[in-house]
Amino acid sequence: MSGFKHFALAGAGGIGIFVIEELLKAKAAGTVDRITILTRTGSAGREVLKKFASAGAIITAVDYADSSAITQALAGVDVVISTIAGVAFEVEMLVAEASAAAGAKLFVPAYYGLPAFGEKLKGWSASRQSLREKLRAMDLPYVLFSCGLWSDFIFTDSVWAPLTNLEIATGKVTIGGDGTQPFSMTARADVASFLVYALIQLPVAKLEYQSYQVEGDRTTCNELFSAYEEKTGKKLEITYRSISELETAIAANPSDIGAIVQHIYATGKGVIEPPDNALYPGWNPKPTIDFLD
Ligand SMILES: NC(=O)c1ccc[n+]([C@@H]2O[C@H](COP(=O)([O-])OP(=O)(O)OC[C@H]3O[C@@H](n4cnc5c(N)ncnc54)[C@H](OP(=O)(O)O)[C@@H]3O)[C@@H](O)[C@H]2O)c1
Repeated sequence: MSGFKHFALAGAGGIGIFVIEELLKAKAAGTVDRITILTRTGSAGREVLKKFASAGAIITAVDYADSSAITQALAGVDVVISTIAGVAFEVEMLVAEASAAAGAKLFVPAYYGLPAFGEKLKGWSASRQSLREKLRAMDLPYVLFSCGLWSDFIFTDSVWAPLTNLEIATGKVTIGGDGTQPFSMTARADVASFLVYALIQLPVAKLEYQSYQVEGDRTTCNELFSAYEEKTGKKLEITYRSISELETAIAANPSDIGAIVQHIYATGKGVIEPPDNALYPGWNPKPTIDFLD
């Protein structure tokens, strides 16, 4: 076991909420002592945070521009988990600096994605690299978690669903390539349970400067959408975009998220290989089809 007992999380949003729920379960089970949630002042009144406070988390509203206040909020914390939105990368840098100043022992950068995605978005990849270099320079070890696309999020009512043209609620989806290439997906609750298990159960030497990849499910678009049609009785209108068409779209707009995601899985690069699932014996992630209805 790591011996880490006091956890802080910054950015209680899309995935952060699931991580907090897992930390609260661990607190109830006695393997975590304290959970501190950093949130922006304007977000502190949210109902979900009130619920977490009543379950035992400490909610700390912060102004991320005030580094000494963040450092103070993180005093005594063993592990700082960032689940801050990618667009607020500078804020994550400030949290990393404050974590080092507060004497945290481990930092978990916001990642939780698909390695190939970062490679395609060069600016994103460079910023993630600069954070890791900064953490090393500050002597604050980090651990990274990748998980593929979020299966409970990418096809449903989220900002990403329309961006990737995979929003099934519209009845119209777009598949990259011929839909036969497998790709990896994991639900946020399953990513969170793996992450919290690893941070508590693995020895420190297996956490510091390590990178883990988990895979909740591996399927193809063709398999998934036909399973959806069978399950719901609804017929999807599917558009196929060829790899060359996707490459033209990306060349025209290197930030075309939909084309990038479709190109990744169309070319077989959407697979987490090899998955580290066995690190958590008994981890039982949900299949993607469970989230489609
Ligand atoms: N694998 C996938 O399919 C997938 C999909 C989406 C995202 N991701 C990755 O997951 C990570 C987290 O994404 P997410 O979707 O969970 O994030 P999110 O819900 O958009 O945001 C998370 C939290 O970040 C904080 N935040 C947002 N804007 C901020 C700002 N300008 N300054 C300071 N804090 C801010 C907010 O917390 P407070 O309001 O409490 O301060 C927010 O709730 C990112 O690294 C992203 O790349 C992966």
